[in-house]
Amino acid sequence: MKKIVLLLCVALVFGACNSRNVKEVPATKSLILYYSHQGSTRQLAQLIQQQVGADMEEITLVNPYDTNYQKTIERSLQEREQGVLPEINPIKSSLADYDTIYLGYPIWFGTYALPIASLLEQVDFTGKVLVPFCTFGSGGIEASRDSLMAHLPENITLEGYGVRAARMAAASEEIVPWLIRIGALPGEFVPMPEFDNMEPITAETKALFDEACGDYPMPLGTPVSVAKSVEPDTNMVCFVTETVCPSGDTSSALIYVVKPVSGKAEFVKVIR
Ligand SMILES: Cc1cc2nc3c(=O)[nH]c(=O)nc-3n(C[C@H](O)[C@H](O)[C@H](O)COP(=O)(O)O)c2cc1C
Repeated sequence: MKKIVLLLCVALVFGACNSRNVKEVPATKSLILYYSHQGSTRQLAQLIQQQVGADMEEITLVNPYDTNYQKTIERSLQEREQGVLPEINPIKSSLADYDTIYLGYPIWFGTYALPIASLLEQVDFTGKVLVPFCTFGSGGIEASRDSLMAHLPENITLEGYGVRAARMAAASEEIVPWLIRIGALPGEFVPMPEFDNMEPITAETKALFDEACGDYPMPLGTPVSVAKSVEPDTNMVCFVTETVCPSGDTSSALIYVVKPVSGKAEFVKVIR
């Protein structure tokens, strides 16, 4: 079990590439196409554009969501329940001109936001290489990429990048190795050192978990084991947490934390 969790940690931090042996952005024209409700994904799109210099377009809605967060939750929940997708305005870019689409979105209810579901219904992405990127409160790049791959099984969907909106300051540095890894920027990708074996939680690692996650407003479960990937100036730490559900079943999650040599530990993402 420990070995499986550890392999999962490594695969998920590095991100598994698709099975069709294409794992790099082709050297052709790229478009950054994104939806953002509150601006974080727009910020991330701009950071990516600064690096790769692609054309960029924001997806807009005929009837935009309210700027009030709670009202947007209510409307989108209702739309999900009723199976209604929000109508998007026509995309102005000519998709035929692009081979690679960087597709950006906020995570809503564990996957890409509803306007992206609308986009996928309206636009033909056949033959495009897709590069997902997203912002979230706690996580969702892996699940949303899986959903994209399920929806567009004929497309090549490369490893994506996601960041907690609360950690946007880290994104400008983090996207560079990601872009090198997917071949969008020149350079040599240096993989993270492997994780150590999973160990039971100690007082020290519990304190580290609390330092990183203590101020996160939603429950993340109780840490039960931990593994570290040690680099010269920072450690990536992966916790396995357990939560007892109302049904009595236990669910587990992987919580990634980054701990710089000097500075506060940060909650990076959760994978449920
Ligand atoms: C309707 C709605 C549902 C959300 N669901 C999730 C979720 O399931 N998981 C998560 O981590 N964040 C969730 N969030 C938080 C957003 O993903 C996060 O705030 C994101 O950075 C917003 O991006 P934006 O500023 O580009 O709109 C949700 C936000 C909204 C409005």
